[in-house]
Amino acid sequence: MIKKGIILSGGKGTRMSPLTKAVNKQLLPIYDKPLIFYPLSILMLAKIKDILIVVNKGQLDQYKKILPDGKNLGIKITYVEQDKPRGLPDAFILGEKFIGKQNVSLILGDNFFYGQFLTKKLQECVKLKKGAKVFLHRVSNPEKYGVAKVKKNKIFFIKEKPKKFISDLAITGLYFFDNSVVKYSKNLKPSKRGELEITDLLNFYRKKGKLSADLIGRGGAWLDTGSISDFYKTSNFVSAIENRQGFKIACLEEIAYLNKWINKKDINNSIKFYGNCEYSNYLRKLIY
Ligand code: TTP
Repeated sequence: MIKKGIILSGGKGTRMSPLTKAVNKQLLPIYDKPLIFYPLSILMLAKIKDILIVVNKGQLDQYKKILPDGKNLGIKITYVEQDKPRGLPDAFILGEKFIGKQNVSLILGDNFFYGQFLTKKLQECVKLKKGAKVFLHRVSNPEKYGVAKVKKNKIFFIKEKPKKFISDLAITGLYFFDNSVVKYSKNLKPSKRGELEITDLLNFYRKKGKLSADLIGRGGAWLDTGSISDFYKTSNFVSAIENRQGFKIACLEEIAYLNKWINKKDINNSIKFYGNCEYSNYLRKLIY
């Protein structure tokens, strides 16, 4: 069982400047909550309770104001600072001590997942013992993403931002790795853009025939909130679902409560912490 998860929540957020000049992207709102709530909710749905959040140097205090140590959610949150964006696999180098001898999941702080059967799939993925697993999603613009070719759930080819059509299955920002990921990440060399590349890391596993995939089906959504327009599209998506159906996406206390990690008293404390707002009203409805 994978019990540890890392959220990569630093980055320059260049595409979203000037919004990201003073505030980190993952603390900006997707409709009614900070973006970081969404990837955190995914780890919590996967029943991962030990979470490391990678943040930019100098931004730790901003994060601790909204997600102090996880106790209010019945989980454990620790932080590590990244002095500059060295690439996604840097998460496993910075997180070496946190990971220890265990397997680990990684989610990008700006990735949004939603859909039927997602929780079930996540709980299957955390059973990974050896190798690596990624989540794929069919997209209409594969040239913008890393894509994969798959046969019987095994990935046999990966290409970053292909100019010619190869596959429309994009590799999303949710990954499950065995413990070798630390060793492999340390052996990576920076690419031409000066970063460690996740594609190179995944290729280590692929070459050994140990890279498998799960597909977020038609009923599911994956949105990468990197650009301003994607950010607003995701906000609109959340607003449409929440207002139509009356339940919230990524209400962290709700997930913790349903997982029996916290009780009514804890929720009342969260209500006090958030104050008089719509999110608190929703929490109140959960416990009465
Ligand atoms: P990117 O989309 O590659 O980068 P970014 O968010 O800084 O945005 P931009 O391209 O507009 O400058 O990063 C994906 C996610 O991973 C994002 O949530 C930031 C995070 N990240 C880190 O925390 N550390 C890193 O070294 C990198 C490369 C990304």
